[in-house]
Amino acid sequence: MKIYVQKNIQQQLLILGIETSCDETAAAVISCKGDDVKILSNIISSQIKIHQKYGGVVPEVAAREHVVNILPVINKALAKANLFYPYNGLDAIAVTQGPGLITSLMVGVETAKTLAYTWQVPIVGINHIEGHIYANWLSPASKIFKSQTSSKSKIQNKSIFPVLILTVSGGHTMLVLMKAYGQYQIIGETRDDAAGEAFDKAAVMLNIGYPGGPAVAAYAAQVKDKEIKNQEIHLPRPMIYDKNYEFSFSGLKTALFYALQRDKKYKEKIPEYCAEFQQAVVDVLIAKTIRAAETLNCQTIMLSGGVAANKELRNQLDATVKTKLVGVKVIIPEVEFCTDNAAMIATAGYFKIRASNQTISKAVKSSLGQLKNNWAKLQVNCNLEL
Ligand code: KG4
Ligand code: ZN
Repeated sequence: MKIYVQKNIQQQLLILGIETSCDETAAAVISCKGDDVKILSNIISSQIKIHQKYGGVVPEVAAREHVVNILPVINKALAKANLFYPYNGLDAIAVTQGPGLITSLMVGVETAKTLAYTWQVPIVGINHIEGHIYANWLSPASKIFKSQTSSKSKIQNKSIFPVLILTVSGGHTMLVLMKAYGQYQIIGETRDDAAGEAFDKAAVMLNIGYPGGPAVAAYAAQVKDKEIKNQEIHLPRPMIYDKNYEFSFSGLKTALFYALQRDKKYKEKIPEYCAEFQQAVVDVLIAKTIRAAETLNCQTIMLSGGVAANKELRNQLDATVKTKLVGVKVIIPEVEFCTDNAAMIATAGYFKIRASNQTISKAVKSSLGQLKNNWAKLQVNCNLEL
């Protein structure tokens, strides 16, 4: 896909990101130059309260809420970034094109296409998982990149590759090998439930609220001495010794279900069950990540996706890499950028534009007229694969 931007990519670019893949309506504006990404605004309208009573996201309800929220959220993001009508200075729109709930995605994609046409700016479709990966390029990751450099502020991103990214969200669990910008290889994924989905279902079984991940984590945090209190409760670590990079969490969920059925007093031990469930997920995720990073000689390990907000996963991954993979860098996005947001989508858009223009630099157009002619080429299709 060719992406045409009005300016030379060496100049500062302003990108509007739009994300509506699930139940968060989000818009953000970022300013980028070189490897520096600055967030000017990052607005999220969450539908958690609406879906809470159903114990999960209801797709039709989510799509209707996106319709109501999308324009106010975009307006807010533009205003906070000091961009006002006729939005001069905006260089591109990046929008999540999939995977996700199709009716939710359509609201974001159609809005982005309409605005791109009206404002005559190019549009770039972003894979949601790729967006999560680029959350690592937002602070504090950028600070880590900078600290590796010798002098000045030039970031030597070459030194971070190959990167292994553990992507753990409500819909996906995968290990992605990134050899360079835009080059991804999925080396393993879940055979059934995603890690976030497992957390959500565990929370339903324990009746502790929605969304499940933060609820399980909050109860687990009440257990101070995990070793002692978890002696009686033991859940399996599925596929931990399998010599592949695949995952499976449905068996763990079933194991919890039967453990709760057997234990007449489980309601008195909710924190302990949460701690053990969380630790089982964390153990498997870390073991597979470490093995893959070691085998594939990765320079850097990154975390991404909603489950990357989990404190135990963040801390234990960091600590394990320090002891087992000395010299390997660990980059973890700030908690606010782990769950769905549009800053990560805009950032992925920026790097896509940059890669596209670098490889086809002669094709970069500078005038609005030429942009108009190329409008037909700027398609966004939902549900493209990574
Ligand atoms: O990336 P995300 O916001 O949406 C998807 O793309 O799926 O991830 C949402 C998932 C949910 O399953 C939620 O329970 C989980 O991330 N999650 C967590 C935590 N915060 C969110 N899981 C474990 N611990 C957390 N602190
Ligand atoms: Zn997500």
